[in-house]
Amino acid sequence: MKKVKVAVVGCGSISDIYLSNITSGKFQILEAVACSDIFEAKAKASAEKYGIKAMTLDEICADKEIEMVINLTIPAAHYAVIKQCLKAGKHVWSEKMIAVELKEGKELVKLANEKGLWLGVAPDTFLGASCQTAKYIVEHGLIGTPVSAHAAISRNYGIYGEFLTHLWKKGAGIGFDMGGYYLTALASILGPVKNLAAFTKVNNPKRVNTRVGAPDFEKKYELEVPNVITATMQYKNGVLATLHMNSDCILDETYSLIIYGTEGILYMGNPNEFGNPVYIQKTNSEKVVFPLTHGYQENSRGLGAAEMAWSIRAGRNNRASKEMAYHVFEMMHGIMQSADTGKEYKMQSTFETPEALPEGFIGDGGWTRKEESALI
Ligand SMILES: NC(=O)c1ccc[n+]([C@@H]2O[C@H](COP(=O)([O-])OP(=O)(O)OC[C@H]3O[C@@H](n4cnc5c(N)ncnc54)[C@H](O)[C@@H]3O)[C@@H](O)[C@H]2O)c1
Repeated sequence: MKKVKVAVVGCGSISDIYLSNITSGKFQILEAVACSDIFEAKAKASAEKYGIKAMTLDEICADKEIEMVINLTIPAAHYAVIKQCLKAGKHVWSEKMIAVELKEGKELVKLANEKGLWLGVAPDTFLGASCQTAKYIVEHGLIGTPVSAHAAISRNYGIYGEFLTHLWKKGAGIGFDMGGYYLTALASILGPVKNLAAFTKVNNPKRVNTRVGAPDFEKKYELEVPNVITATMQYKNGVLATLHMNSDCILDETYSLIIYGTEGILYMGNPNEFGNPVYIQKTNSEKVVFPLTHGYQENSRGLGAAEMAWSIRAGRNNRASKEMAYHVFEMMHGIMQSADTGKEYKMQSTFETPEALPEGFIGDGGWTRKEESALI
């Protein structure tokens, strides 16, 4: 199958794992040829490290060989970068979230449709072994019919946010930065949400950067977005779920993601990772580990871009679809709106629940030709 030539835009923290996975040949369908950053030096350093070409975004857009752009810029730049690339006729895989403003996300989905281009948005962790195993468990009726669900994530953004300063700015915060993993994992199994209601708060908004070594060490800063979020959601299939997020936690990270069914309880893995253990519990029994049914157990960032490239070649919709990403994005905006207005938020968008990946990919995550063709 003809490889899809890709250019990476944004050579920051997350670009290393994308570029090392792609250039090491983990995804046979992708070929990294170029990279770009607003800081030329960063693009040049990545280009040298991975044996690719440093280019400007304009050059990438004008290059006829490059079919797909992988957008790894900060959330505030997503809209402009995606729009420019789509207008230039490139398929785009973007890191989360699709944009900052809801109307921007909507416009990008429309633009991709008008242009007949593929647009896929992270997270792609739901395509990993852990979440696909959870999906297998639900779809094979192993917990009966899902009734309710609970997602919780707490982080200490005093650790993350003082280096990655976009984390406490508009467009990110724990809601937009981490909420996407949890809501996407649930969406990929339970489908779309009908309505939701939420409360949020900004706990202790005035801060001082206490991270020795951080560029802004000892500088004062103010949180722009809520760091405590609670919400309750009603899925179209009738499942009721609660969401709890707190980025002002004393611990680096705690999480839980649980689906309660009529015949069992499913404890999902950390949706920010690919191969966490999955447990099920049946009536009157212990919680037991369920063997992972799928591959991509290791850090496989870029899997969503690869799956999108396979989809482009096969002419089908990609699983980490723009519609599901936009729905999750709308949910997070809905959560903020509900908290601001004190009213329930009724969801406008919907999406087709993505099909499970074919089973049986256990191991280092390499796809054989046969396995790849099973996807098509
Ligand atoms: N860091 C992580 O662990 C992580 C994990 C998963 C997803 N992500 C997502 O990846 C994206 C990037 O995050 P990061 O942590 O790598 O941030 P980062 O700040 O480390 O890197 C972003 C890079 O994009 C560049 N950039 C910004 N605007 C640009 C523009 N208009 N054109 C070209 N380059 C531009 C910056 O110079 C920087 O090098 C975000 O959407 C984030 O949510 C990050």
